[in-house]
Amino acid sequence: MRVLSAMQPSGQLHLGNYFGSMKPNLELSKEADESIFFVVDLHALTTVHDPDLLRTSRQEAMHDYIASGFDPEKTIMFFQSYVPEHTELMWILSTLAPVGMMERAVSYKDKVDRGLDATLGLFAYPALMAADILLYEVDVVPVGKDQKQHVEMTRDLATKFNNAFGETFTLPEPLIREEVAVVPGTDGQKMSKSYGNTIPLFGDEKGIKKAIMSIETDSKGASDPKDPETCSVYQIHKLLLSESDAKALADEYRNGMSYGDAKIQLFEAYMDYFGAMRERRASISEKEVISVMEEGAIKASAIAKATMERVRTATGLR
Ligand code: ADP
Ligand code: TRP
Repeated sequence: MRVLSAMQPSGQLHLGNYFGSMKPNLELSKEADESIFFVVDLHALTTVHDPDLLRTSRQEAMHDYIASGFDPEKTIMFFQSYVPEHTELMWILSTLAPVGMMERAVSYKDKVDRGLDATLGLFAYPALMAADILLYEVDVVPVGKDQKQHVEMTRDLATKFNNAFGETFTLPEPLIREEVAVVPGTDGQKMSKSYGNTIPLFGDEKGIKKAIMSIETDSKGASDPKDPETCSVYQIHKLLLSESDAKALADEYRNGMSYGDAKIQLFEAYMDYFGAMRERRASISEKEVISVMEEGAIKASAIAKATMERVRTATGLR
């Protein structure tokens, strides 16, 4: 089985990203025979027009993923733009993509509603994502619910291509992470970069402590019984614990542990849980990240080139 995942380099990774996406992807990549992971810098260009920011954020994203435990021996890791076949295939797929289908893309409408410029690139985003997936003949694409429609569009485009030019692409299966609970942020809403309520995975310890100490709670007195089910401090803490330890902690809340103590315990548990990963990140040099990425790009190119040869032949371009 070959698994593919990709992410936009859009800022500091947080706990929600880890439990909602990185950890399940990492587990899946361990089960797979081969996995492919890339940072979609070309997609990022739909929203980032600052060269320094793009360069650093994709580098940081790759660094984070290597530190989180993806094994470069088994996972092909690279920056999307290093394999130009992505854009070539995107163009070919776009000639089969009905405008009506593209107009129904929820994420496009959302982004425009949020004030992003309605550019051709933003509109074509799902066609580039389809190319990302179809180039590598993958069986499974693990994605969050918000990306399900994009994978369905990918299947549609692959079918249209196969009907027009003969069987060329395998249809990828989306693996939707329905079961992953939404991790709350420091204000109790979904943790998200866009809401400024995150607890980062990496970076300075003080910043993490500050974020944890700022988690909003209700106004119960220090020794009053607390309800763990409605408390964000507990909801975050339990992600870091075994089931039995989480139960024991819930009892402490019910027995009147103060929110101050609860937060300090959470901070300690956080450092325990992510300590090794944070140390690993600090021990990996920028040079190593680049070398993993460049080796990955060579391996990815070999697969992508072979697919494109078939595509060029099928379409009459070759
Ligand atoms: P953000 O909301 O911070 O911009 P992204 O949209 O870039 O995060 O999400 C990247 C991945 O992390 C997605 O697969 C998404 O489902 C997951 N994710 C993000 N925030 C959370 C959260 N609070 N809880 C669970 N998963 C999350
Ligand atoms: N659109 C995805 C997101 O915003 C990122 C992405 C681009 C992707 N290409 C992909 C995800 C291919 C999976 C497969 O999260």
